[in-house]
Amino acid sequence: MKMKKLGVVLAAGVLAASLALFGCSSNSTAGNDTKKDDSAKADTSYTLVKDGTLTMGTSADYPPFENLENGEAVGFDVDLCKAVADELGLKFEVVNNQFDSLLTGLAAGGKFDVVLAGMTVEPEREELADFTDTYYVDDQAVAVMKDGAITKDNAKEELNKAGVIIAVQSGTTGETYCRENFPNATIQPYGNSTDSFAAMQAGQATAVCTNAAVVKKMLSEAYSDAQVVLEVATGEEYAIAVNKDNPELTKAINEAIKKLQDDGTVEKLAAKWLG
Ligand code: ARG
Repeated sequence: MKMKKLGVVLAAGVLAASLALFGCSSNSTAGNDTKKDDSAKADTSYTLVKDGTLTMGTSADYPPFENLENGEAVGFDVDLCKAVADELGLKFEVVNNQFDSLLTGLAAGGKFDVVLAGMTVEPEREELADFTDTYYVDDQAVAVMKDGAITKDNAKEELNKAGVIIAVQSGTTGETYCRENFPNATIQPYGNSTDSFAAMQAGQATAVCTNAAVVKKMLSEAYSDAQVVLEVATGEEYAIAVNKDNPELTKAINEAIKKLQDDGTVEKLAAKWLG
């Protein structure tokens, strides 16, 4: 895995510590914790959709970053945002939305304060929202069902053929990548990321293309009958999106992220979710 901007070297054996740290409920009590007093927390110059609460917008269809478990959002992004909320002395809530409407929802205001959705910083997205410092770097990967005609050796060529259907999530960098690199194939967007994997398994699509960490997670769980045939080092930088009218929140979150990097929390979360 790559965490280039974090300068974090992942160590084994931190799983227990991270579970202990994040086994708590989503209702933070950090606001009453005098030991946690720091400058980020004292900063009240930002606005919040709901007083005293950091509300995270996400598309909970992207494990290991976010997905629903018994109706509750879990994952690396969820834990990271929870830890940021703790640092800011705020409670924490998650609002689930379709991925391709997250940034317009954030810009419209009133729904959520931040978006964490394994979201890659892209120039056109920076026109809609401010982004914090990078917290993770990912690549693209393409998977197909095992025992098909497409293999690691021929994937680049075979994927770019008429009749090939590549399932992607609507509005993602995976969709853009496929449209640019496989112009002869049919690129089939799905609103929900998990639907694109289901489409491949059901034979409605030849392949699925999305971020490498997600492809690996999906294949290691529900899709062991699929295989990765192509990995592309896109080096996409994930960051937290914040409404442009709320620059003090971006600043406070950056300070919190820095603290969580320095005290090893980010490293522990990465070990827990991204192994
Ligand atoms: N990193 C990609 C992008 O920003 C895909 C993100 C999809 N995230 C999700 N939660 N479904 O376009």
